[in-house]
Amino acid sequence: MPLLRAGEAAPRAPAADTPLLADAASLLSERDFGTVRQLIAQYAGIKLSPQKRNMVYNRLQRRLRARGLSCFGAYLELVQREDSDEREAFVNALTTNLTAFFREPHHFELLLAHARAHAAGQSAPLRCWSSACSTGEEAWSIAMVLREAQCAGSVLATDIDTDVLNTAQAGIYRMERAAALPAERLRKHFLRGCGANEGLVSIRPELRQMVRFGQLNLQSPVWPAQEGFEVIFCRNVVIYFDREVQKKLLARFADLLAPGGLLMVGHSESFPSAHPGFRSCGRTAYQRVGT
Ligand SMILES: C[S@@+](CC[C@H](N)C(=O)[O-])C[C@H]1O[C@@H](n2cnc3c(N)ncnc32)[C@H](O)[C@@H]1O
Repeated sequence: MPLLRAGEAAPRAPAADTPLLADAASLLSERDFGTVRQLIAQYAGIKLSPQKRNMVYNRLQRRLRARGLSCFGAYLELVQREDSDEREAFVNALTTNLTAFFREPHHFELLLAHARAHAAGQSAPLRCWSSACSTGEEAWSIAMVLREAQCAGSVLATDIDTDVLNTAQAGIYRMERAAALPAERLRKHFLRGCGANEGLVSIRPELRQMVRFGQLNLQSPVWPAQEGFEVIFCRNVVIYFDREVQKKLLARFADLLAPGGLLMVGHSESFPSAHPGFRSCGRTAYQRVGT
């Protein structure tokens, strides 16, 4: 059994949102919290509710420590400087990255059927986009389904958060993250670590060839990738955006998605139902209509 490379990035631990202090309010003033909310909305489109003060305190106080700062005012000044080298870490600290392999499995069943039909009908690769891929489980799950459907395809996997992208690209996970997968899937798509890498699994090279990672802010006016897609996953991210941002995003997805293509959204998201270019084709799944 091949060994994973020594020193490979360890999977990122989930952020703890439980307050470290009983009363974060005394250390993160209302004013500074207001500035944080305004900045993260501006940089990432993320709406933070007023109830997130403890969460913000816990996540950002680590950044203050890393930068050797003792107050939030000075930290926020640093974040707002032109060409600030802290802005990326600020955004990374405030994103919520919960994900899993084959999360919301109905989407992958639909993808399997779509990929099989595509493979039977044409030889062009099926182009898929995991547009808020977090630590990569969604993108790798898409690639696994394409292989299982024997469908040639590619996956673009993007996120705003550069920390999660590093984990995603490393493609190495604790065994527990993949433990719920059927044994056949595990065997087919992962290598098991041994020795010093016991307890880790690594994505097989065949899948790695299919997936490309990159940073992309969904609300930035220009996206580097302007290619078309047959399948877009945009799950559990627009829930943080306001309606106007959601609407604009949807219009851009409609432009990028080939007729008959699929858009998968998160379990509590229904934003495409309002757009005439999409019709519902299953639970939180939409098909691009028109030519
Ligand atoms: C809860 S995770 C969802 C992961 C995956 N799509 C899923 O459903 O399992 C949300 C992801 O959206 C990303 N995100 C937040 N704002 C974003 C933005 N403006 N552009 C791109 N990604 C963003 C976060 O970094 C995070 O990794």
